[in-house]
Amino acid sequence: MSTKRKSPSELRSHRWYGVTDLRSFGHRSRTAQMGYSRGDYAGKPVIAIVNTWSDINPCHSHFRERAEDVKRGVLQAGGFPLELPAMSLSENFQKPTTMLYRNLLALETEELLRSYPIDGCVLMGGCDKTVPGLLMGAVSMNLPTIFVPAGPMLRGNWRGKTLGSGSDIWKYWDELRAGNIDQEAWNEIEDGIARSPGTCMTMGTASTMAGIVETMGLTLPGAASIPAVDSNHHRMASLSGRRIVDMVWEDLKPSDILTRRSFDNAITVLMACGGSTNAIVHLIAMAGRSGIPLALDDFDSISKRTPFICNLRPSGKYLMEDFHYAGGMPALQAQLGDLLHMSERTVSGGTLADQTVGAETYNTDVIRSRDQALSAQGGLAVLRGNLAPDGAVIKTSASDPRLLSHVGRAVVFDDYNDLSARIDDEALIVDGNSVLVLRNAGPMGGPGMPEWGMLPIPKKLLKQGVRDMVRLSDARMSGTSYGTCILHVAPESFVGGPLALVKEGDEIELDVAGRRLNLKVDDAELARRRAAWVPPKPKYARGYGVMYGRHIRQADKGCDFDFLEGTAATAEPEIH
Ligand code: FES
Repeated sequence: MSTKRKSPSELRSHRWYGVTDLRSFGHRSRTAQMGYSRGDYAGKPVIAIVNTWSDINPCHSHFRERAEDVKRGVLQAGGFPLELPAMSLSENFQKPTTMLYRNLLALETEELLRSYPIDGCVLMGGCDKTVPGLLMGAVSMNLPTIFVPAGPMLRGNWRGKTLGSGSDIWKYWDELRAGNIDQEAWNEIEDGIARSPGTCMTMGTASTMAGIVETMGLTLPGAASIPAVDSNHHRMASLSGRRIVDMVWEDLKPSDILTRRSFDNAITVLMACGGSTNAIVHLIAMAGRSGIPLALDDFDSISKRTPFICNLRPSGKYLMEDFHYAGGMPALQAQLGDLLHMSERTVSGGTLADQTVGAETYNTDVIRSRDQALSAQGGLAVLRGNLAPDGAVIKTSASDPRLLSHVGRAVVFDDYNDLSARIDDEALIVDGNSVLVLRNAGPMGGPGMPEWGMLPIPKKLLKQGVRDMVRLSDARMSGTSYGTCILHVAPESFVGGPLALVKEGDEIELDVAGRRLNLKVDDAELARRRAAWVPPKPKYARGYGVMYGRHIRQADKGCDFDFLEGTAATAEPEIH
């Protein structure tokens, strides 16, 4: 990072606004057309507020007004704010999955920043894929960047019980299918579980990613967990607007903040939180944009040394509101202490250590001390074996410990439609020891690697009291999901990974302690099955899907497009 402050003529926007030629006349006269005079922008940092608000995204429904708070801060600090809308990836509504479009948002973000007269940006996201999508684009563009997380929604309520996003949906859906609650109760849950703007308030993907981004130094301290409708959220947005203007003058860019050590910090917090498996894919993709090598095995080794201390659903008991008022990320970081690289830089201009000074934990059941950890190791593990030569992941913190060492016979579903059609069939040959297998649900097969990995327990087993089974797929699962679900099997079945060769009744062995996942079928038989395997037809004949299919990486590589990885320089646009 340069210690010298930029001069106005060194601003990137100067090329659009500060020169005297035919094109700059057009830029100034068209800015005047919007009601601004020269004094509003001349010689000032132009700040893009990249806003993923949309009428179809309930997690971001407060972002229209929150963008005004950001603008207030930018103006107060002497910048010129421009709000730029970007694709809103709304987790619940977008089909087949928002993950199909994460890279499209990244591409859009990068090119918005490149093609307009932008000096720095405030990224407004929160719903699962918006966080990595915005950041991957901004990291590639490498202008000063600060992230404003949407913040969690308020806790849900139903008949005196607290409801957590996602996690309690899966829980009560099983109770409905088992006949333990009625339709009226289910309807009441529908009305009680999502009661304010904001992201899922369990430690799902949104909360996990927000905590990670704060720990990597890309938000103001404490920003990740502020409830979306808390007044502090307005103030955080405004302060972020103020701070980005100084970051432009200081030329403090993502490449000054993101290092191998900051990625290690992110993984440490992921493990301490029992956070979402999705974060593994997103962090590998973000590291790829930063030119930092990061592999699945890095997650496993950090998991082994990191205690799981954050008592939030789905792996624990509480919700994000409890976490915030227990001290939030600064308190968690302080508890982790020397497990984090405290000298890493942040957008505040100081270090992570500066952010944890005086950070106290106000509820030690929510944020545990290391000697009162929920488990001695982190919440995720990486598995390998003849079923997953390039790896698979499991969220051990949300699994039944009884199933972490298990041998069972495969019950195979060829795709999601096959699963939906047969899972509740009374004739399905399955018992509590079976291993449910879903294939064709990976990056190419889904497509987009949908969150189908928490396969439903067959209804007839639910009625017998079964609530967890070993499940195996090349899909992802929601960060709010739970159960003994082996995910992200790579390579995926659609491209001929070994999952494509599993047959009904094959024995599958899971050994989490040994990090093994094996199909107990000999090599000669597997070779015969491979020779008979017929590759499926491509899913798309035109459009975005064709580009996606040609360039998408597998899960262990972060599912980025190959041509977006790396740090090779991209030319600035000519202005003529
Ligand atoms: Fe948006 Fe969960 S649906 S964060």
